[in-house]
Amino acid sequence: MHGIFRRKAIDASDRGAGQTLTPTLSWPHLMALGVGAIVGTGILTLIGVGADRAGPAVILSFVIAGGICACAALAYAEMATMMPASGAAYSYSYAVLGEIIAWVVGWSLILEYSLVVSTVAVGWSGYAAPLLTSIGFPAMLTQGPELGGLVNVPAIGIIGIVAALLIFGTRESATLNAVLVAVKLVALTVFVVVTLPYFNAANLEPFMPYGFPKSVDAAGAERGVMAAAAIIFFAFYGFDAISTAAEETKNPARDLAIGIVGSMVACIIIYMLVAVAAVGAVSYTAFANSAEPLALVLRELDQPAAATFLAVSAVIALPTVLLAFLFGQSRIFFTMARDGLLPRSLAKISSRGSPVRITIFTAIIVAIIAGVLPIDQIAALANAGTLAAFIAVSVCMLVLRRRAPNAERRFRAPLAWVVGPAAILGCLYLFFSLPSQTQFWFLLWNIGGLAVYFGYARKNAAD
Ligand code: ALA
Repeated sequence: MHGIFRRKAIDASDRGAGQTLTPTLSWPHLMALGVGAIVGTGILTLIGVGADRAGPAVILSFVIAGGICACAALAYAEMATMMPASGAAYSYSYAVLGEIIAWVVGWSLILEYSLVVSTVAVGWSGYAAPLLTSIGFPAMLTQGPELGGLVNVPAIGIIGIVAALLIFGTRESATLNAVLVAVKLVALTVFVVVTLPYFNAANLEPFMPYGFPKSVDAAGAERGVMAAAAIIFFAFYGFDAISTAAEETKNPARDLAIGIVGSMVACIIIYMLVAVAAVGAVSYTAFANSAEPLALVLRELDQPAAATFLAVSAVIALPTVLLAFLFGQSRIFFTMARDGLLPRSLAKISSRGSPVRITIFTAIIVAIIAGVLPIDQIAALANAGTLAAFIAVSVCMLVLRRRAPNAERRFRAPLAWVVGPAAILGCLYLFFSLPSQTQFWFLLWNIGGLAVYFGYARKNAAD
């Protein structure tokens, strides 16, 4: 049996399973793909959770989470252009850090991709529910038990619809994606334009009511700027979705780098504007922990038409995030199964060209989670998985800089020895700022994962 630190050759990454796609995409398409996967529940809903944890200083939480994510994105861009068309962080880790680390990263990615789908579905439901209840849908069926409801039916429904789209082999349409991205951006722009004139510096006082580091208040809640940053981090990732389009890109090195870094920068700017506008317009307590905080801010300002416009836009455009992550989940699972680490039978491709079994299996699990659990808990666990993957990618970049200094790098992260360690340390700080309960669940998930590795994966890994 081979060793657990066995590495795959760098160019052994998956090249599109034998089929060649025509390169038709350029960097504007990639940026649209990136923004389509990034802008979602993080800015639309978790801003309310962040405000609850940090007060007006949630603005600072956005800066910190965005800065750390941008450093990781640079490392990601360097790795993605060295190994285009690969199974993302899992494949880089297999090539650079060895099988067992790749396993942990892959197992963490499964957690990330699955729980992002659950989180975004619950976020979607938060905006869809008022529209549905206004036409007679029972309110009890729009929330999980912890929030006083029975089960979140809209969240389950939207996962079903997106899974069906993927199963029937709907290829992502770059044009439709661009239209939906435009819808999101217009909605956020309307929000900023309508709310900014109400900016009142008094709403920013006291700026940091819960302090900076994560701390536990008298009621047992974990608060502080870092506790909020660890949740807000959710808003910034999704740019890895771009690397899955590498094969269809005309000039992969340049386009991937511009796509990843560009969509990241665009999102940081948009989010800052939205966060400042929201916190400046009303007291943060007005929308903290709301299921539809941005619409609520607009209603507080007596702007019902803009609130409805924003809610309808969210309902129409949020599914792009669901599609990107449910697709990504099946892809990562597929890559691990092809390497023999997970059962190949599960990753079977149907005649329509999509891994039906794994899509249905994932959809059922994430729908159950979305149906009953509160959004902040699911998002926190998704973030834990993502942070692990980002740390691995940044370590891969630094290790390769040492091990293969002269290998061709079509995109070089600037100041790698500053950016890489900043990403690693920043992600670790965010991880330890997550709720303690989340850290515990993440540990348990990986202990379970290692049991599967030693019980199954290691014996079945392809040579
Ligand atoms: N960044 C994505 C979102 O906020 C996952 O929905």
